[in-house]
Amino acid sequence: MARPLHADIDLDALRHNYRLARDLAPSSQALAVIKADAYGHGAVACARALEDLAPAFAVASLEEAAVLREAGIAKPIVLLEGIFAHDELERVDAWGLWLVVHSEWQVAALLDYRPRRPIPTWLKVDSGMHRLGFDPARAKALWQRLRAVPERVTALHLMTHFATADALEPGYFQYQLGMIEALAQRLGAPTCLANSPATLAWPQAHGAWNRPGVMLYGSNPLVGENDATRDLRPVMTLRSELIAVREIATGEPVGYGGRWRAPRPSRIGVVAAGYGDGYDRHAADGTPVLVDGQRCSLAGKVSMDMLTVDITDLPGADIGSRVVLWGEDAADGTRLSIDEVARHCDTVSYTLLTGILPRVPRRYRQS
Ligand SMILES: Cc1ncc(COP(=O)(O)O)c(C=O)c1O
Repeated sequence: MARPLHADIDLDALRHNYRLARDLAPSSQALAVIKADAYGHGAVACARALEDLAPAFAVASLEEAAVLREAGIAKPIVLLEGIFAHDELERVDAWGLWLVVHSEWQVAALLDYRPRRPIPTWLKVDSGMHRLGFDPARAKALWQRLRAVPERVTALHLMTHFATADALEPGYFQYQLGMIEALAQRLGAPTCLANSPATLAWPQAHGAWNRPGVMLYGSNPLVGENDATRDLRPVMTLRSELIAVREIATGEPVGYGGRWRAPRPSRIGVVAAGYGDGYDRHAADGTPVLVDGQRCSLAGKVSMDMLTVDITDLPGADIGSRVVLWGEDAADGTRLSIDEVARHCDTVSYTLLTGILPRVPRRYRQS
């Protein structure tokens, strides 16, 4: 029998979440962000599942776009960080990709290049995150230069990225929004601003395009919840089984370093999943795990191929019992939110999803 660990990917849930992103912003188009192998879900499978719904996709690099084009995905693909070297423009042009420009050298390269057809281009402005983008004071001149070459550049949009759209306190988000809106108004520019949190919580940030990413995979990036986040469906279920069960006495340690000690006579279930699969080694004792659809707690440090859970209160659990590390239990529909697991690992869902390693087989389901 094969090792029972799988990442089951529910493409119906992906489509549901995409429709939610689209319906929350009926005046915007929703770019499906499928960079980093669709946040660990498989970019080609996700693009195929969304191709009839999403007008365009977004990735982080030409290499990621190449994987999609080689798989026959024909929809526009935006390179969120643009090109990394001058010679990439040739492939941008040949593959019909859309460009983001965030640096002077990228604009110069674009203005220097004679494409077969004009390249749709988004001018990225740094409205306050201070990662990528032009200073707003510089944007007007660049906008005008790009507007002046319609044979090379088309469908020009202003783009920015929010640093704090997920927070409850909207102050800095509103500062960034005010900055980019004033600029867009001065230039008469269509915009692409909203990531998942802004799509979910800030309709005033919805532009001509939005860029939902993590919400497509069913994670709630907001600090709190709202009606929309409650409608998200988990796309990935990380599923395994108990492969051993031990009885231990009060005070006995479990796992490396003996971090967890039995507070009572305990049953410990050993799960086939570990940090060698991408399950976070920082998971604290008490991190929730579903065993046969019941919530249990991680007990002891995560090992490379295994982790241990306290199943003392589940006398029926035994070797072969179902385990869900996040996602949805297929047998009874019980869910374990990846966002909750991430909080126990002192991280965010993004790192857990993108961290699942290739040795975990992905299994796709679509009705
Ligand atoms: C430029 C840009 N746009 C959109 C996204 C999608 O963000 P999220 O996954 O929070 O929706 C990202 C993600 O990192 C990004 O870097």
